Amino acid sequence: MEMSGNTVLITGGATGIGYAMAELFLAAGNEVIICGRREERLIAAQRVHPELHVRISNVAKEGDRRKLAEWVTTTFGKLNILVNNAGVQRDIDFTKGIAEYLAGENEIAINLEAPVILSGLFIPLLTGKKGAAIINVSSGLGFVPAARMPVYSATKAGIHAFSLALRHQLAKTGIKVFEVVPPAVDTELNAEGRAQRGNFKADLKPAEYVASVMKAFENDVFEIGYGMTEGLIKASRPDLDKSFQQMNSRW
Ligand SMILES: NC(=O)c1ccc[n+]([C@@H]2O[C@H](COP(=O)([O-])OP(=O)(O)OC[C@H]3O[C@@H](n4cnc5c(N)ncnc54)[C@H](OP(=O)(O)O)[C@@H]3O)[C@@H](O)[C@H]2O)c1
Repeated sequence: MEMSGNTVLITGGATGIGYAMAELFLAAGNEVIICGRREERLIAAQRVHPELHVRISNVAKEGDRRKLAEWVTTTFGKLNILVNNAGVQRDIDFTKGIAEYLAGENEIAINLEAPVILSGLFIPLLTGKKGAAIINVSSGLGFVPAARMPVYSATKAGIHAFSLALRHQLAKTGIKVFEVVPPAVDTELNAEGRAQRGNFKADLKPAEYVASVMKAFENDVFEIGYGMTEGLIKASRPDLDKSFQQMNSRW
C-alpha cells in the first residue's frame, strides 16, 4: 500500500487502535476522517490534531451508516481507504439464558453488520481509485474464541471470513482487503469486563502496536498478526484446539 496521499475514513477513530492509526496516517501525509458516537472524544482528538475531520456517527444504525456514506461521498470524494475499526466487546453469560445478551450493546450490529454494510456502501466510491483499500479489524478471538465473550468472538470470526471472501471478490476491482488481527492492546475496550477481572491491563500500547501494523500495510501483508495472533493466523486445527483449552480453562 502507498502510505501517503490517501484519504482515509476510520470508524471508531477517536480512541485506542483507531486513534493510533489516525495519528500515524496523518503523520505519513494522508487526509484522515474519523467517526464515533461520543462527540467529546471526537473533539478531543481534533484538539490534538486540528487537521483531523470528525463526524458523529453510530455505525450500528442503518440511517447513520447511509448518512456517513453520503456525507463522505459529497465532502471527500477522493476517499480511497475505509477502515472498519469501531467495535465493542462484552462478557455475556448464556448459562443465564438471553437476559445478559439483551441487556447491553449489540455486538453483532457494531462489529459485524456495520463493516459488511459500510463496505458495500463505500465500494462504489473506492472502485477505480489508486491505492483503494478496505481494512477490517478482527481479533485473535476470531481464531480462538473466548468462552466469556461468545458473541464478540463470533463477530470477529465473521469478520475474518468476510475479509477472506471480500478480498477474493474484489481482486478484480483493484480494491485491496486487509485484515488486522490485534492481540490484547491497552485500550478502553470492554472496560467493564476488564474491571471484573481485576483491572486486567495489556502491556502493549496502541501506538507501538499500530506502528507495526503500518509497516505491514506498506508491505501488502493482507492478514496482519502480531505476537500471539501471528501464531494463531498460521495455526493448525489441533493447535487452535489447544489454545482454546488453555484460554478457557477457568470458564
Ligand atoms: N484492544 C484490544 O485488546 C483488541 C484486541 C483485538 C481486537 N480489537 C479491536 O480493535 C478495534 C478497536 O478497539 P480498541 O481496542 O481501540 O477499543 P476502543 O478504544 O474502545 O475503541 C473502539 C472505538 O469504537 C467506537 N465505537 C464503538 N461502537 C461504535 C458505534 N456503534 N458507532 C461508531 N463508533 C463506535 C468507540 O467510540 P464511541 O464509543 O464514541 O462510539 C471507540 O472509539 C475493535 O474492533 C476491537 O474489537 C481490540
